[in-house]
Amino acid sequence: MIGNIVLTHPLLLAPMAGITDLPYRLITRSFGCELAFLEMVSSRSLVHASERTSRMLSSAAEDRPLGVQLLGNEEGDVLKALEKIRPRGFDVIDLNAACPVPKIIKKGKGASLLREPKKVKSLLEILVKNAEVPVTVKIRAGWDRDTVNARDVALHAEDAGISALTIHGRTRQQGYSGRVDYAVIHEVKKALSISVIASGDAFSPQLIRKMFHETGCDAVAVARGSLGNPWIFRDTISFLASGTIPERPAPGEIADTMRRHLDLTCAFYGDRRGAIRFRKLFSWYVKGLHDIRTMKEEAFRAQTREQMISFIENIRGCAYRHPEGAYEGFALSC
Ligand SMILES: Cc1cc2nc3c(=O)[nH]c(=O)nc-3n(C[C@H](O)[C@H](O)[C@H](O)COP(=O)(O)O)c2cc1C
Repeated sequence: MIGNIVLTHPLLLAPMAGITDLPYRLITRSFGCELAFLEMVSSRSLVHASERTSRMLSSAAEDRPLGVQLLGNEEGDVLKALEKIRPRGFDVIDLNAACPVPKIIKKGKGASLLREPKKVKSLLEILVKNAEVPVTVKIRAGWDRDTVNARDVALHAEDAGISALTIHGRTRQQGYSGRVDYAVIHEVKKALSISVIASGDAFSPQLIRKMFHETGCDAVAVARGSLGNPWIFRDTISFLASGTIPERPAPGEIADTMRRHLDLTCAFYGDRRGAIRFRKLFSWYVKGLHDIRTMKEEAFRAQTREQMISFIENIRGCAYRHPEGAYEGFALSC
């Protein structure tokens, strides 16, 4: 479906800066995610390879297939970045033409590239010519409400010889708010012959199925819907196959998964940094549990792995706020 990569299930983990590190990816993979992306990495910082960048690129044998996403707008930088990452043997190389963050936009990178379809094409041509693995691009619906040009950008990208394209169905102006625009994704899907991966509001199995129905996309990239809910992969695989969703995890199972995630995070960053990094993950995992506010606030001040473990162990005794309800994370009605 993406070059030589064939997925059993049409789902992947989208890149999320500051989130989709090795521990996060290993956890989502354990619930059925097959293809995952690292968080975006700047081509420039790759050239000057800092220790932080090198950690960001870390992987493991069971962390495959794995895509890396480059951020950049200069052919020279992108080419040098490609040389730097070549020995790591990533399975997919993606170009970011979607990031809406002002400091990235100011430098003409990320979603700024949407205003220069020809540049997107030339950057991708360089990557396609020099990479041994499939090259993809991630775009948005357009720059703003008045410039929804995803189809044009996508056609330029396809001309460069890429293997697949991901489209986040929001404009740069929307950032992450407002509803995803299914029509623009559908328009891109109709125009291209390569695989189209859709992104936006993939918050529940129902919304993911809706994405397939409304857009005809080949796969869906799961992003915020996986925060504290790696079960979304298991649930969606089941829902797409049989229309049924397994029972949501009991608090004990949530605690087991949190422990696994915390252990991986501490092994990766060290105990102290790992515990601090886990704070936000803690609050995502416990969403929907009853009377959790105080514990969440306390866990947000945890300084050590041991403190974090004791908060996680307390989860076992919790109940859901709505005993019969569905997962409450980012769920929107469909
Ligand atoms: C915290 C955060 C970080 C993100 N980082 C990246 C990134 O590095 N590269 C990228 O292409 N998209 C990034 N995204 C966008 C997601 O991959 C996805 O396209 C977007 O969240 C829409 O999907 P959703 O509505 O299902 O969350 C990020 C999103 C979030 C919330």
